[in-house]
Order: sequence, then C-alpha cells, then structure tokens
Amino acid sequence: MRIFSGIQPTGAKHLGNYSGGFRQYAATQAEGDAFFCIVDLHSITVDYDPEALRSSTYDLFALLLAAGIDPERSTVFAQSHVTAHSEAAWLLSAVTSYGQLGRMTQFKDKSEQREFVSAGLFTYPILMAGDILLYQTDLVPIGDDQRQHLELARDVAERFNQRFGETFRVPEGRFPEIGARIMDLQEPERKMSTTGGTPQGTVLIADPPQTVRKKIKSAVTDSGRDVRHDRQEKPGVSNLIEIMSVATGESFADIEARYDGAGYGPFKSDVADAVVALLDPIRERYRELRADEQALRRLLASGAEKAREAAAPTLETVYERMGFTRP
Ligand code: AMP
Ligand code: TRP
Repeated sequence: MRIFSGIQPTGAKHLGNYSGGFRQYAATQAEGDAFFCIVDLHSITVDYDPEALRSSTYDLFALLLAAGIDPERSTVFAQSHVTAHSEAAWLLSAVTSYGQLGRMTQFKDKSEQREFVSAGLFTYPILMAGDILLYQTDLVPIGDDQRQHLELARDVAERFNQRFGETFRVPEGRFPEIGARIMDLQEPERKMSTTGGTPQGTVLIADPPQTVRKKIKSAVTDSGRDVRHDRQEKPGVSNLIEIMSVATGESFADIEARYDGAGYGPFKSDVADAVVALLDPIRERYRELRADEQALRRLLASGAEKAREAAAPTLETVYERMGFTRP
C-alpha cells in the first residue's frame, strides 16, 4: 500500500500538529510504503521570509524524525527537490475546476485575512493534488481541515482518468479519531494554532517543560468540578481529556472515571505531566538531530532521489496521455 502525506515547513509546530499530524504519520508507516513530503512550495502562497523558509525546512525534517518517522523505512523529502511536483500542478490545472477552487474554505478564510491574495493561494489545492497523485497513493493520513482538499484531489484524478484514460489511483483519506482537533487552551472554541490562536493557549513542541506546565495549568475550564467529555457543555475540560488521551493512550472513559469528583486541580496537573512526558523525548531528539545540518542535508538528498524515481513514471504517463511530444 502506498501512503503519502505533506506537511508545511512554516510556523512553529504545536501539540495539535503532533496529535492530528505527526503522530498519525509515524503510525501509518508500518502499513506500507510511505512518503512524507515537506511541502515548501506550498509555503510561498502566503507572505513569508526566504531565510526562515530555509531553516524551517530543516527544522521540520528534524522534527518529523524526532517524532518517529524512520528515514530508512519511509521516504522523507522536500517538495521543491522533486520538480515533478511543480510540473504536475500545471498539468493538472487543465482538469481542475475553477469553481471548485473558489469553494475551498481554506482559501476563503485565508484570503479574507489579508490584503494581498496570491494566485498561488488559490491554486494551492492543485499542487497538493499533484503531490498525492504522482505517487499512485492509496492512503492519505491528514487532519480534518484537509478533507475538502483531498476531495478535490480525488475529483482531479477522476476527471483526468475519464478525459485521458486510466492513469491515477483515486486516494482515500484517513482522519484521526482522537486528537483530530485540539483546541486552544485559552479559547477552547478555537483550534490550537500558531497563526489563529493565543500564545498562552498554544503548547509548542519546542516549549520547555515549565512552559508546558504553566500553559496547561492555566487552561480555561469552567466553574464546575466534573471531569467529563462533552464538547458542547465543557469545551475546555473536554479538550484537556482529549489531550491526556493523546499523551497516554487511555480512553476518555478511563480518564473521566479516575478524576470523578476530584476537581480540576489534580486533573490539570496530571495532564501537564503527561504532556511533558510525551514531548520531552521528542524535543530532546529534535535538538540532537537539528544540530547536525550536514546529516539532515544528506538524508534529504537521498529522500529526494527515492521520490524522483517513484514519481517519474506517472509524470511521464501524464505527458504522453495529454498529447505532448517528448524530447
Ligand atoms: P497547519 O500547520 O495548521 O497547516 O496544520 C498542519 C496539520 O496539523 C493539519 O493538517 C492537521 O493535520 C494538524 N493540525 C493542525 N492544527 C491542529 C489542531 N489544533 N488539532 C489537531 N490537528 C491539527
Ligand atoms: N495542505 C496540507 C496542509 O496544509 C499539506 C499538504 C500539501 C498535503 N500536500 C499534501 C497533505 C499532500 C497531504 C497530502 O496540511
């Protein structure tokens, strides 16, 4: 089975990214032939700093390895190192509906937030479709927020297959059951995010233990004492239960039972310990890996080579089916 996912190198990565992203990616690699792509080309669709992009590409690569992705078993690479991705994005734009692109909620949200809206922000889902389809992907582990983009990729594959002949496998998504939407600790109605959330309510993977503890202990809950998972009535408490479940692997019911009637103080303190225990080793491994940029560069180069080989036959078929002469 072919597995593919992409992760943007920009923005400090947080507990939500781990929970809805990295954790899942690392888990799926046992199920087949996995490709994890650092989607640096996607990062230029909003305002960004070129120097920061360079270093955050290495940051993310080190973080993926620290979170358990094994570069021997899986192919980890940077999107811009494999030119097939840019080519596919242009070619597939011929079978992408302009109207459908305009209906993407991520585009609508992000374009409302800024003065300059790049064309790339609009065509972003075509690049993503190419990422997935070039590898004849069966399974795409992604966050809930990417559902609509995956649906578009499936439509692109089907339209291409109909118009030019069977070429692409139509991929399925896999969404995490627990921890797919970790909320901001200060504003539990909003998703945890480095761009849309509050700094105090966002636990960064890079945060030192005392910062993690402080953020979790000052999480907004409610005036009750009841540790119960109920997103509607108790968003803050539910979020902490979910975070604890991600960190320890326990079920919601077990967590609820353990803190039944004990109040929020001890509960929050234990959630803090659990998250520190989860993130501490990842942060340490990250620090070690990130210190050797030469080694990261070499690993990325070998990932790119494997990815180029895997993508080339499909790209060639696309050119041929679409009627291009070949050099
Ligand atoms: P972003 O960096 O916001 O583009 O998110 C990258 C990926 O991280 C998403 O596709 C999700 O898989 C995951 N993710 C981001 N924020 C959260 C969150 N608050 N809860 C769970 N998963 C998240
Ligand atoms: N758009 C995805 C995100 O922001 C990242 C991404 C790019 C991706 N290409 C992909 C995810 C291919 C899965 C498959 O999270």
